[in-house]
Amino acid sequence: MVVKVTSICCIGAGYVGGPTMAMIALKCPHIKVTVVDISQPRIDAWNSDELPIYEPGLDEIVKQCRGKNLFFTTDVEGAIAESEMIFVSVNTPTKKTGLGKGKAADLTYWESAARTIAAVSKTNKIIVEKSTVPVRTAEAIEKVLQRNCNTSGVRFDILSNPEFLAEGTAMDDLTAPDRVLIGGKIEGQEGTDAVASLVEVYANWVPQERIITANLWSAELSKLAANAFLAQRISSINSMSALCEATGADVSQVAYALGKDSRIGPKFLNASVGFGGSCFQKDILNLAYICECHGLTEVADYWYSVVGMNDYQKNRFVKRVVSAMFNTIRNKKICMLGFAFKKDTGDTREAPAIDVGNGLIEDGARLAIYDPKVSDAQIAMDMGAGMSNITTYKSHIEALRDAHAVCVMTEWDEFKSYDWGEIYGVMQKPAFVFDGRLILDHDKLREIGFIVYALGKPI
Ligand code: NAD
Ligand code: UGA
Repeated sequence: MVVKVTSICCIGAGYVGGPTMAMIALKCPHIKVTVVDISQPRIDAWNSDELPIYEPGLDEIVKQCRGKNLFFTTDVEGAIAESEMIFVSVNTPTKKTGLGKGKAADLTYWESAARTIAAVSKTNKIIVEKSTVPVRTAEAIEKVLQRNCNTSGVRFDILSNPEFLAEGTAMDDLTAPDRVLIGGKIEGQEGTDAVASLVEVYANWVPQERIITANLWSAELSKLAANAFLAQRISSINSMSALCEATGADVSQVAYALGKDSRIGPKFLNASVGFGGSCFQKDILNLAYICECHGLTEVADYWYSVVGMNDYQKNRFVKRVVSAMFNTIRNKKICMLGFAFKKDTGDTREAPAIDVGNGLIEDGARLAIYDPKVSDAQIAMDMGAGMSNITTYKSHIEALRDAHAVCVMTEWDEFKSYDWGEIYGVMQKPAFVFDGRLILDHDKLREIGFIVYALGKPI
């Protein structure tokens, strides 16, 4: 029987759980959506005017739905018990210790959520894997659920519904997704019914042809594969940026020419100081580890090289700064414009600014950091001991005053509209610009008097 869902619980009120559930609440006023988390501060923030994450358009939707059909609470057990469908959107970081350390996904949070579901469920539940997980996680989770549920006759149907939103554009991505992928046990009636229940939720706003179904393992693997392919494109263009610098070619022109080939396409070809974010590296390492576990060493190595190229790019950037500044940056003030891993988010997880910042500090630099959205506390948490060499600023011009160099680490739009003449006036001379995002007008900067190094551009 296809259940027409009227109550949804989402475990995990993070970057995925919060926005996705806000969108479901907005588009499905007949469904009560409860987002739960073990973190009281996070839930308090979701219930306040200062949401715990910055995402354009999110505020308005949360304000519209909160208290009507969208709720945030730490009553995990209560919300699970009363819901028909439970999304699990907890973090699945890279394991830090033990077998698979540094590569495999840590499913501790996932398993703990599954155990709670099993313990409190008295009625049938459709469990939706929203977190990114290794292939065949559904099988493991099914075992945990079935063997820990004390109420007889309770049925758990497990679906995989990976999330493809990108931070900074999450609300647009959720409003008009390229596709919604739903994996289930489509060979049996009950599995098909569970898939149909979730399809019906999305069909409230997503066109049917964009809702695709697959078997569980294909859905789980498609998510890891999608992130691996996206990251691989960035590493590919970044590898070209190194070759461009060596040969006098211009990476923007190369990317433009490549992107005009309709088989390649123009997106995700922006050379950069390296990809960041909580997922690309973690998911590739996880994918490669799964390959290793299946004896597919060559396949694993292929994907590890994507992460290797990203590390190379960050190192290369640091070396470029040091060598351009006469091989010494000791005690020089270097301003980092941007700290977030991309624009329009305050998220700094795996931000290239962290590795580049540490590299510059290692060579003796004093860093001045300005980011429009990242808090001082977050920078302090990310940079740890390095903070003794870092000052954070609330104004870009103060961060740039007396600086010897500026490194553009994030592609925030506001950096493009700064008065670069004024900036030149307050900096030490010679004034260097290292554009790690290729967003500035380099000819104009050179006219002003800056010495400009841009990734993948003729020097
Ligand atoms: P996050 O760290 O922002 O949020 C996860 C939340 O889960 C945290 O608030 C944590 O307190 C909570 N949590 C952990 N265990 C819990 C439990 N047992 N009960 C209740 N709450 C619990 O993580 P995120 O960025 O939202 O990512 C979640 C998942 O989605 C990951 O698997 C990630 O790979 C995947 N994903 C993330 C993005 C993204 O843009 N961030 C996009 C697509 C997929
Ligand atoms: C990425 C994917 O795009 C999402 O589809 C996926 O759901 C998500 O990971 C996830 O699983 O977490 P996200 O990391 O939020 O989303 O942001 P992206 O826009 O993909 O950017 C990732 C990193 O790559 C950023 O540091 C960005 O600056 C960099 N990037 C992106 C480039 O250097 N060049 C590009 O051309 C594109």
